[in-house]
Amino acid sequence: MILRCIECRREYPIDKVRHRCECGDLLEVVHDMGTLRKKVSSQLFDERLAKREFPYNSGVWRYKELILDIENKFIISRPEGNTNLYQADKVGEYVGIKNIWLKHEGENPTGSFKDRGMSCAISVAKMLGFKKVACASTGNTSASMASYADLAGMESIVFIPKGKIAFGKLAQALAYGAKTIQIKGDFDDAMKLVQEVCQELEIYLLNSINPFRIEGQKAIGFEVLQQLDWQVPDWFILPGGNLGNNTALSKGFRELYQIGMINRIPRMAVIQAQGANPLYTMWKEKTPFTAVKAETIASAVKIGNPVSWKKSIRGIEWSRGVVEQVTDQEIMDAKAFVDASGIGAEPASCCSIAGAKKLVKAGVIDKKERVVAVLTGNLLKDPDAVVNYHLGRLKGIKSRYANKPIMMESSLKAVRKVLE
Ligand code: F0G
Repeated sequence: MILRCIECRREYPIDKVRHRCECGDLLEVVHDMGTLRKKVSSQLFDERLAKREFPYNSGVWRYKELILDIENKFIISRPEGNTNLYQADKVGEYVGIKNIWLKHEGENPTGSFKDRGMSCAISVAKMLGFKKVACASTGNTSASMASYADLAGMESIVFIPKGKIAFGKLAQALAYGAKTIQIKGDFDDAMKLVQEVCQELEIYLLNSINPFRIEGQKAIGFEVLQQLDWQVPDWFILPGGNLGNNTALSKGFRELYQIGMINRIPRMAVIQAQGANPLYTMWKEKTPFTAVKAETIASAVKIGNPVSWKKSIRGIEWSRGVVEQVTDQEIMDAKAFVDASGIGAEPASCCSIAGAKKLVKAGVIDKKERVVAVLTGNLLKDPDAVVNYHLGRLKGIKSRYANKPIMMESSLKAVRKVLE
């Protein structure tokens, strides 16, 4: 296992700290495929699922050899993963497809998929002897890091855009005891700053620019395959913000393909919010990557200069994938269906569903294909957006599927009238 630059292919050992290559580009973990071919099989993972012993009781570390084969004593796990894979008729009807599964990553310990990558990367921080960790965040990463830092006995420092992160997430970061720094600026400014800070102050960086975050997040894909009895679906659809998560899934599937565990790579559809769409523009118009000033109701993906765009595009190419964009209106409408199906997810997650609907309508996804849409975060994130949607108070958005609360006097007669 080594770290390798995705551009100049320079190599580095994994037990030395490196956030970027000397050439400035991104690093990734390269596994020894020969060893993996000999060591791993679906039977091994099924046996571990039955036993549920540490660390294999985690939906990340169950696939340890494919993720990060380190000594168990370094592993920090809550345990994460083991999230449900739902079939919801209402959502299927909305999207216009029968075979759609929702992988609910909002069911992770701190409420988002970030816990998977966090478990992996903070274990590396422990192995390397760090006492302080940091990240920039639109919310979920900060909550996740703060919790895992507590478990690991480390100090955590989060950089968040002032006034722009969901309150529940700020609450989590504060509650877990993270030093919480609100900067004047947006996520992209915070991301730039945290990289400088970590470089200069010997703090371990836990954003998805950290290649071990990507390794942990690969497990979303592995777990879905295991839940589908190792049958490969046709599509995986997920929201794109900083573009780490789709990078992770493509990498994981490619590795499974290379070691012969699957016989084809599922196609990846990355869905961006229209107001935060640099990957979409690049992909659609075949232009060089250009950052944008991000604006969307989906606070988690309000990112205009995503760090992992190069890795993301490469993964989309590996899988013959596509990039799509959706408006805030489409996001909130799709969300109303995900929520009303009893499952629920935060706005950014519902890019997946809004995007699926669009791709089915355009004929990119065939109605007979098998689709997995990843719901990346919990319903309780961005409650303001939810309540204001149902109250019809979101600027520029029609509350098409609103469930308005009813105001009335406190009497049986009044209740009877309303219910009749
Ligand atoms: N969905 C949710 C709920 C997220 O929190 C994020 C990213 C994404 C999707 C996008 O994933 O960045 O890998 O493309 N949230 C970040 C954070 C950046 O700080 O929590 P991505």
